[in-house]
Amino acid sequence: MSLKELFWNEKQKLSMMNLVVTAVIALFSSLFGTVYLLSHSPRRTFLEELEYTTCGSDGVIEHGKLPLVVDDHSALEDIELSVVVPSYNETGRILIMLKEAIEYLRKELEDRWEILIVDDGSKDGTADFCLNLAEREFKLQAGQLRVVKLSKNRGKGGAVKHGLLHIRGRYGLFVDADGASKFADVSKLLESVKSHEKSKKPALAIGSRAHMVNSEAVVKRSFIRNFLMYALHTLVFIFGIRSIKDTQCGFKLFNREAIVQIYPFLHTEGWIFDVEVLILALRKGIKVDEVPISWHEVSGSKMDLAWDSLMMAKDLTVIRMAYMLGIYSDKRPC
Ligand SMILES: *[C@@H]1O[C@H](CO)[C@@H](O)[C@H](O)[C@H]1NC(C)=O
Repeated sequence: MSLKELFWNEKQKLSMMNLVVTAVIALFSSLFGTVYLLSHSPRRTFLEELEYTTCGSDGVIEHGKLPLVVDDHSALEDIELSVVVPSYNETGRILIMLKEAIEYLRKELEDRWEILIVDDGSKDGTADFCLNLAEREFKLQAGQLRVVKLSKNRGKGGAVKHGLLHIRGRYGLFVDADGASKFADVSKLLESVKSHEKSKKPALAIGSRAHMVNSEAVVKRSFIRNFLMYALHTLVFIFGIRSIKDTQCGFKLFNREAIVQIYPFLHTEGWIFDVEVLILALRKGIKVDEVPISWHEVSGSKMDLAWDSLMMAKDLTVIRMAYMLGIYSDKRPC
């Protein structure tokens, strides 16, 4: 090999290496840029969204300022359980759910409970509908059922986050307004969380329908719903929540410590927020218990099956990549 040939080879190798390095940098920065652009920062809370409205059986409407969970003045209030109900256009379904919940709460907890309805910018008068129920149907005391109205729709994740960050109770349950879960099963979740919380440790328990995959309720669903459900499960599995079978059940219980450690850091406001909640819990070493509950299919879901499934797949990818690339952090509240 002549000296000239050797020189050429070295030169080629060098330019080849340059090319590879440039390509890797370009690829990485476009990936970073894409994930950054698709990532989510929750919108700021408007001042009026920190006020609740309540109405007792005397028909007097009262307003007040919501407490902040992170301030922790819980010891002052003797409320065991706060029930947060994210609600968008729920006048058609929420009565059944509230009836079941209030019956249980009155029996098991006397008056050591509250319900916080988070009206996520409903257009059908959900907020007034609920206040009316509190007064006439359930004859509650003022403050037992509070309604907070979001001035602009945030999505289910945003509504749950807003609700849980402003509860008074020792434990916070979020539950879907459709009444699909059997409310009395909250006692199983409570038992599970209490068994883990020694010395004020954060803990959560989530309702699970995993034991029902072959049951009638699921088999009776349309082919397309089941198909999308399996696709979603597969995606969740790929993106790294393997220890939890049912991430999406709308029945999850947190103690205050878990709420403080998880919800200020939650970016996702859409349907897939449950996955980020669980990712945060696992990253922070918080114990998550999956508890089988009774559940039945209820029609009238506000999900647009095709579009929202697509958005869920996108958000799922973004969540995982954003944590990997440091765009989302579990140490910076957002
Ligand atoms: C919510 O309710 C309003 C008024 O009834 C209606 O126009 C709107 O389409 C509803 N939205 C959904 C997603 O159901």
